[in-house]
Amino acid sequence: MPAPVAEKTQLTTLVAVSQALASTLHLEAALHRVLELLERHHAMFPSIVTLFKGKSAELTIAAAHGLTPRGKQARYRLGEGITGRVTESGKPIIVPRISHEPMFLNRAGERKNLHKQDRTFICVPVVINRRAVGSLGVDLRFKDDRDYDRELHFLQVVASMIAQAINISHLVESENDRLRDENEHLRGELRERYDFSNIIGHSNRMRQVYEQITQVAPANTNVLIRGESGTGKELIAHAIHYNSVRAKRPFVKVSCAALPETLIEAELFGHEKGAFTGADARKKGRFELADGGTLFLDEIGDLSLATQVKLLRVLQEREFERLGGTATIKANVRLLTATNRDLEKAIADGSFREDLYYRLNVFSIFVPPLRERRDDVLLLADYFSEKYARENHKPIRRISTPAIDMLASYHWPGNVRELENAIERAVLVCEGQVIHGYHLPPTLQTAEASGTLARVSLSEAVDSFEKDMLMDALKTARGNRAKAAKLLGTTERIMRYKVKKYAIDCNRFRN
Ligand SMILES: Nc1ncnc2c1ncn2[C@@H]1O[C@H](COP(=O)(O)OP(=O)(O)OP(=O)(O)O)[C@@H](O)[C@H]1O
Ligand SMILES: [Mg+2]
Repeated sequence: MPAPVAEKTQLTTLVAVSQALASTLHLEAALHRVLELLERHHAMFPSIVTLFKGKSAELTIAAAHGLTPRGKQARYRLGEGITGRVTESGKPIIVPRISHEPMFLNRAGERKNLHKQDRTFICVPVVINRRAVGSLGVDLRFKDDRDYDRELHFLQVVASMIAQAINISHLVESENDRLRDENEHLRGELRERYDFSNIIGHSNRMRQVYEQITQVAPANTNVLIRGESGTGKELIAHAIHYNSVRAKRPFVKVSCAALPETLIEAELFGHEKGAFTGADARKKGRFELADGGTLFLDEIGDLSLATQVKLLRVLQEREFERLGGTATIKANVRLLTATNRDLEKAIADGSFREDLYYRLNVFSIFVPPLRERRDDVLLLADYFSEKYARENHKPIRRISTPAIDMLASYHWPGNVRELENAIERAVLVCEGQVIHGYHLPPTLQTAEASGTLARVSLSEAVDSFEKDMLMDALKTARGNRAKAAKLLGTTERIMRYKVKKYAIDCNRFRN
């Protein structure tokens, strides 16, 4: 072949090689395509690319063209044979006549059977960051007048393109690994956060709730979670999801109250580009995003009648269309819903569809309000004080007895959320190791002092503070008045007097 023609073929091949390498992230397939090009346009055959696999010190065949299956299993150690030596030294080797070369291992193929005449073998290193990570080796028919320099140079360019592709593939792989690890870690965290163990409460009422979650979680049943605001409905929805077979698939939440009617439908079902003003790109809805997982519709009682009809259709037919779209999309989601509304009343006055209600309410869990499970108040208060002390690096150790009494006697209209906020605030304003009554919000103070919303007078506040300190000291001293007096730097006589004044029962601290 005259030089300019050969050069042109080489260039054409290089373009094709770069396209082959860029066209896919599947490295082996791309390499195979490159080797095919070398055969087709340059009669380089058979050919192999070797690489170190992972951290192994052995070279394995990453792609091969024209080898027997046994040949593809070949392994080379560094420095072993031509391939091993090229990778060790980072320098190419040309064997003009295989038959004359004792170093030639011919591990990768039975060339003897392939060709009667003598063969040339050229092997170039694949180098990334100045380190040889493998090799590209090709066979050529032996020719006396072959321009080895040209062939060598050409193969070196191909090898450097391969190196680039390998580098990118490694980067993508390690990024994927990192994302996979991160994902696994985050999932673990979520599972932990929404695991049962994060729902606090040992009261009988809560035990019933746990039992119901255990019963219903594994099934695909739609569940309606009911209860006052702040009782933990969302927590329960999470627990159902993370204890179901869908746990590894997404948990997607939509709050039906937060969005206006037009937006909520786009949010649920998605929309095509141009479906309405402002829809400037196609968007997947939450039904699609939750595919295979769980969709949690919060505040379902706030859904408009028009949207209720659409939701009912999805539940009946298990399919839907995007807004402005015609393609039908299958819905594989488990539906959990929650409300603090009286849905039966809403049905009676026509603002909630009865047929939808029956679909959603296949199984219902009622979360009791906090005032009906007083035993849980202390557990929750301890749990939140620990949680917020940790988060805010406060050395808080406990909640004083008077403060506990205040927490226990309050009626908690805002349920667990209100309790959580009260404790968070107390932790923030508390300077020492103990949360006292006066760290709690004023609503609790007045409730304790008088049971009404009247303002507290100075003397009442001082008394309340004094009683607080006395009870605290008595608690530390396990009801021993003399010790408690010492702790407060006062006399036993005064201690006896105050205990009587505030009608404190010292026996309750003796255990
Ligand atoms: N049993 C519980 N154990 C621990 N934390 C709880 C419990 N119940 C509720 N909480 C906490 O109280 C807060 C309110 O809970 P959640 O949001 O689940 O209530 P909700 O019933 O969905 O309220 P809303 O009806 O207002 O949406 C959250 O921070 C939640 O973590
Ligand atoms: Mg909620």
